[in-house]
Amino acid sequence: MEDKRIAFIGAGNMASAIIRGIISQGLFLGNQIMVSAPSQSSRDRMAADFGVKTTADNCQAAAFGRVLVLAVKPKVLDEVILQIRDALAEDTLIISIVAGKSLKTLEGAFGRPVSLVRVMPNTPAMVGEAMSALTPNGELSKENMAFAVRLFEALGRAEVVPENLMDAVTGLSGSSPAYIYMLIEAMADAGVASGLPRSQAYTFAAQAVLGSAKMVLETGFVPGQLKDQVTSPGGTTIAGLKALEEGGFRGLVMDGILAAVKKSEEMKG
Ligand SMILES: NC(=O)c1ccc[n+]([C@@H]2O[C@H](COP(=O)([O-])OP(=O)(O)OC[C@H]3O[C@@H](n4cnc5c(N)ncnc54)[C@H](OP(=O)(O)O)[C@@H]3O)[C@@H](O)[C@H]2O)c1
Repeated sequence: MEDKRIAFIGAGNMASAIIRGIISQGLFLGNQIMVSAPSQSSRDRMAADFGVKTTADNCQAAAFGRVLVLAVKPKVLDEVILQIRDALAEDTLIISIVAGKSLKTLEGAFGRPVSLVRVMPNTPAMVGEAMSALTPNGELSKENMAFAVRLFEALGRAEVVPENLMDAVTGLSGSSPAYIYMLIEAMADAGVASGLPRSQAYTFAAQAVLGSAKMVLETGFVPGQLKDQVTSPGGTTIAGLKALEEGGFRGLVMDGILAAVKKSEEMKG
């Protein structure tokens, strides 16, 4: 993309995570980024943290570059699009990370054909380990899609999915950091119950989760094979696995994710 300028509407957690990623990966410099938010304190924080340009005027941000990221809460999205839609250049690439807002809803709000990508990132974006799902609308060029994928790969991993799978993604990778935090907390509690100091117990539990995730992503083995590799006959691991199976561990995890998928289906607009 030749025009190296990108704007964000919204200066919250996700905008900060994306900006941190794209600057650290060298995709944009701070002065090639403009951020718009109503509160002076948020604008000052963005300028101090990343050296970006800031504005309180959403239209100024919308007209700033060829890429515009919508990073506001769903409840203010309609009002924001109404403000900015006439300020956008014809060929602006619009990226929406607003949860639950479909491409059709977004296109309807713009009221004209726009190049649009809907993205569902997750909070590990804050440490460069996001899992993002991207879905394009019919107006998007291959070049713009490739650019959008590159942008989100700067924050972690990115996959393209059809829009009808966005609820599945929301339940699986959008909500699951909360389940994993709960798992790590429970693991650490068991470590503390067995005598480990609390802070060490968190480290042991979190690093075990991180290492296991890397094994799945990097070895090419499916989880069942990796599980079998650490399960020696009559050993400690099979004793733990048996207790987990008796408690319905797998079914419970599936139910939790499916409940989030269902909620996402009910909430979308
Ligand atoms: N957090 C996540 O894990 C996650 C994951 C996937 C998708 N998302 C989606 O990402 C979006 C942003 O989430 P977030 O967690 O970053 O929210 P957030 O931290 O609450 O940030 C929202 C930002 O929007 C700004 N804002 C509010 N009204 C505005 C307006 N009229 N014009 C311009 N800016 C306005 C706020 O400005 P002030 O700072 O001035 O109040 C704030 O900076 C949401 O739609 C959410 O669904 C979030």
